[in-house]
This record gives sequence, C-alpha cells and structure tokens, in this order.
Amino acid sequence: MSITLIYFKDTLSYVLRLTTYVFLPISKLDLMLSRRHVLKSLGLSALSLSALQAGATDLKPLLDFEDPKFWDSVRGQFMLSKDKVFFNCGTVGVMPRVVFEKLTEHSRYLASDVADWAYKDDNKEQFISGYNNLLHIRTKVAKLLNCEVGEIAMTDNVTNGMSYIANGMTLQPGDEILTTDQEHGGGQSSWKVKEKRFGAVFKTVAIGKPITNSVEVYDTIVKAFTPKTKVLMLSHMISGSGAILPVKELCAEAKRRGIFTVLDGAQTIGHIKINLKDIDCDAYVGCFHKWMGAPTGTGFMFVKAEHMKNLWTTIASYRWDDHADEGFRFTQRGTGNFSVLLALETALDFHFQLGPDKVYERIKFLGDRLRTGLKQNKKVKIFSPKEDAMCAGITLYTIEGLTGTQIQDAYWAKAKMRPRSQGDVFGVRHSTHIFNSTEEIDRALKIVNELSA
Ligand SMILES: Cc1ncc(COP(=O)(O)O)c(C=O)c1O
Repeated sequence: MSITLIYFKDTLSYVLRLTTYVFLPISKLDLMLSRRHVLKSLGLSALSLSALQAGATDLKPLLDFEDPKFWDSVRGQFMLSKDKVFFNCGTVGVMPRVVFEKLTEHSRYLASDVADWAYKDDNKEQFISGYNNLLHIRTKVAKLLNCEVGEIAMTDNVTNGMSYIANGMTLQPGDEILTTDQEHGGGQSSWKVKEKRFGAVFKTVAIGKPITNSVEVYDTIVKAFTPKTKVLMLSHMISGSGAILPVKELCAEAKRRGIFTVLDGAQTIGHIKINLKDIDCDAYVGCFHKWMGAPTGTGFMFVKAEHMKNLWTTIASYRWDDHADEGFRFTQRGTGNFSVLLALETALDFHFQLGPDKVYERIKFLGDRLRTGLKQNKKVKIFSPKEDAMCAGITLYTIEGLTGTQIQDAYWAKAKMRPRSQGDVFGVRHSTHIFNSTEEIDRALKIVNELSA
C-alpha cells in the first residue's frame, strides 16, 4: 500500500511539473501546439488535469529540468527509434512528432485538395510559399532572436543567407574580409567568390584548436584587423569544435572601426540563447534544421534595417526593389514548400512551449556531463575549448590511437550510437540534445573507456 502511494505521489508530482510548464504564460500567437494537443500527447485530458491541480496544493509545482522523468516525457515527443541514439544534431537535427505531423498533414492536404485554392491573395494563402510575406513565421523568428520582424528574411539554409549578404554588398579591390581558419564552407565560400570575382582579400586568422579561452581568441582576431578590413565574418559557434566565440565583444570592436559584422549561426539556433540587440552585429544567418527540430531546408537571414535597405537581392522577383518590407524583399524567392515552412512554425512553437532557456540549459547540462566524464580519461583529447562557458552541446574529442571513423564505427557496433567522425586527427563530434538522456551520456562514456583500455 505504501509503495503504491509513494509511486502515486511521485507520479502526481511529475504530472504537476508538466502541467505547470504547459501553462507558462505564452501569447496566443505562440500556441500552435495547442493546450489540448500537449495534454493529449502527455496522455492527459483537461479534466484529469484540473482534478489533479485541485487536489494537489501540498505538492511543490517545481520545474525541475534535471528531472529525468520530465525529459523522458520530452523524449516521448520524438519519433526516434528507441534502439538507436542520435548524437549528431551538429549535422542535421530531429523533428519532434508534432513537426513531422504538420509537415505530412499539410503535404497530404495539398496533394488531395489543392483545388480548394481560389487564388486571391498570396499573403493570406498557404499553398506555395515563395510569394507570401511569411509574416507569421518571421514574427516568431524575430521574437526568438530579439530583433525587428522587417529585419528577418526566410531562406532555405545558412549557405543561402550568407550568399545573399556577400553578393548583396559592394566591395572594392583590396577591401579585406576577415574570418577564422575554422569556418564552414557554407559560411565562408560566398566571401571567397568576392575575392576571386572582385579582387577583395579573403583573410583567415588561426584561433587554435582547442581554443584556450575567450580573451585569447578575442585578442587574436582583433590583432588581425587592418585599416582595410571591411567585413568581419565569424561563426558564432564553430562547426567542428562547438566553440562559442566572444562575438558581442568582437562586434563592438569592429563597430568602433567601421567594420561590417556578419555571424554564421548555423550551430546556434535552438542550441544557445541568441539576443541580436545585445550582440549588436550587422547581420546574422542561421538555420532551423539542426538544433531547432524543423525540417531540412529552413533558414533565415537577419540584417539590421539600416543595412538591409542597401543590400542588393541575389534572387529577384516582383518585390526585388520594394523597400516597404525589406525582409519580404529577400523572402520572395520563387515557389517553395509551404508544408516545410508550416512545420518550421510548429518547431518554433514547440521550442517556445518547452521554454527556450530550459532547452539551452538541458543541452549544456548534457554536454558538460559528457566533457566532465571525458576529462577523467587520460587517453582522451578534447578539442572543444578549455573554457566551460565557450561550450554547450557540441564536444569534439579523440581517443589515443583511433581515428574518427574507427570511433564512430565502434559506437555504432557497440550501442547503435551515432556521433559523427571528424577525420583522422580530431576524432568525433558529439552533439547532445533534449531527446538524449543522462543514461545515454554515461553509456557513451563507458564505451570511450572500453575503447581506450
Ligand atoms: C558553421 C556552419 N556554417 C554553415 C553551415 C552550412 O549550413 P547549411 O547547410 O544550412 O547551409 C554549417 C553546416 O553544418 C555550419 O556548421
């Protein structure tokens, strides 16, 4: 009897925690994941919920985001196979079930009922995306990033966004673009085009791997500025190592020198908190298909209003020179896939519903747990920064005597775990997300210890 009671009480307290999170004050606009849907997906009805609330005032309505039961329930929102463990959001993320359902539901609707479409107004209709201003989605993106909606354009990915910015700017021969030696091809290549085509100078500065600390990396980059530097392009988070660069301080210094700043946020969106007003960069590009749980082919470009009006469009359609809504000028990029965009909107709602800060805390909590365990093993070398605050959910490490492919394959053979190989020297890049558990991290550490024995 007492066991049953304890169990019941525990379950009750757990349910209360979940319901408190469901009722966090969120504007109506944000509630794509309706209360009914969330309750349903948690296996609760509105009736059972109020009964529980009414009779449970003595229980602490605590939100304990280290509570494994809570995160088990979050894991239940994903369709990921139970016998496999995914550790590679740095490459591509995982859609929660609601996102996948939105995607398929809308695709099915288009396939069966496109005849419903009595064409009248692109901005009100959700059949093809490329002519719609996507204001409802851009508004949520602007809220996520803390910027103005007119400063946001939707793109398909980071490579698109960065190309729009590089192609849209005019640089003179000899003007310098400064970046690090650890940029992704999708972030840096449009600037290399600028070099080859227009005689601008593409300069990289070595920042170390592992990076020691943020002060050192700041100094290294600032020392590389010259009077000819016109653009500072940086990954906010380095793709390979997960290093979070001190972008706010670097953008402030660049601003003092009149240098245009553009950040590559491929790895940050849905992973760490982004506050564009605080960072104060001139431009920022990102995608939602890694850490935000949206379908592939979803991204954005932010450019400060004062600069956006002067940026040439690369992809031109009706709005190419209409400055009434700058973000729309770039968002209008020909026929696209509305199902994907509506699923992106659901992913944003899911993120807001969980609580962005809690998502970021959890990702970092799991990343820290992994790094703490790895540091105990003398045969492991970590290439992520030594400074904790520069790390979140990505850890890059190797095991003495093994290549990245060998480690990757051993993880799969032993436990169907999937981090990603980063080649012969750097081992594997291991990404942790909210659908991972502490138990999975501990199992991974056990495998590392076996492999290094
Ligand atoms: C830092 C960085 N920039 C750019 C990209 C390219 O992103 P996308 O494929 O969305 O264009 C990636 C992808 O991994 C990345 O990590």
